[in-house]
Amino acid sequence: MTAAPEGPPWDPARYDRFEAERDRAALDLLVRLPAGFEPRTIHDLGCGTGRHAALLKRRWSEAQVHGLDRDLAMLDVCRARPEAVMWEQGDVSTWAPEGRVDLIFANASLHWAADHAALFPRLAGFLSEGGVLAVQMPIQSGTRHHQVVADVAADGPWAPRLSNLARAPRPMLAPEAYHDLLSPACGEIDLWSTTYLHVLHGADPILQWLMGAGLRPHLAALADDPDLSRGFLSRLRAALSDAFPARASGAVLLPFPRLFLVARRG
Ligand SMILES: C[S@@+](CC[C@H](N)C(=O)[O-])C[C@H]1O[C@@H](n2cnc3c(N)ncnc32)[C@H](O)[C@@H]1O
Repeated sequence: MTAAPEGPPWDPARYDRFEAERDRAALDLLVRLPAGFEPRTIHDLGCGTGRHAALLKRRWSEAQVHGLDRDLAMLDVCRARPEAVMWEQGDVSTWAPEGRVDLIFANASLHWAADHAALFPRLAGFLSEGGVLAVQMPIQSGTRHHQVVADVAADGPWAPRLSNLARAPRPMLAPEAYHDLLSPACGEIDLWSTTYLHVLHGADPILQWLMGAGLRPHLAALADDPDLSRGFLSRLRAALSDAFPARASGAVLLPFPRLFLVARRG
């Protein structure tokens, strides 16, 4: 299997700026783990700054908990945490555990990895009998903010630099496909989607939100031309504030759909 291409580096402080909103989906995923589940081996794939791996270690203190990420800046934040989690650098597309795993947890990370048709059955194949794969991914198509970014990216002197991003395949499949990929190994599959309506505050909050995650490839493609980058961001700032006007309270509401799945082997 081919590894996913290296993405641009992450900025942990920028990503964690919306910690409460980004955390909400991870917590909604965790509460759907089976009642009475007592995992002894846990892997958090694409663990980012390590908040959830640390939480899992506090919840199941006897378990061996691992956090995997390919970004060194994110892992530096993980390693400063007090919890006894084994932090590892690696790519989820080529990752293979040493033994069977009771819980594979991946929050807001697998949509950055390629070839889900191969990845999901492969991950399910690493589970112990009764083991659980718990995944949350932002839905990347059909949202207003993705459309605004695509429109601005395609219309301006930056467009030739960004056209590859528009053509890049989106890894996420239709929700039904995840059921079909996992059902040969997993007898219990819980699959749902939720659209959060994040209430954001501060200056240009949607632009700031996107710069922490989804816009990183655009910023990387323009990084060597600060004028072009500034022009792109300024046009995007204006387009986002037209598309998402501030409410009377001053807050900006960001509709954000996410797909969840909890699949149990056996
Ligand atoms: C949006 S952050 C989510 C972090 C964390 N799971 C959370 O919920 O806060 C995505 C993380 O996935 C990591 N990531 C993306 N693709 C990856 C891959 N192929 N292998 C390992 N880590 C990956 C990134 O480095 C980043 O830290």
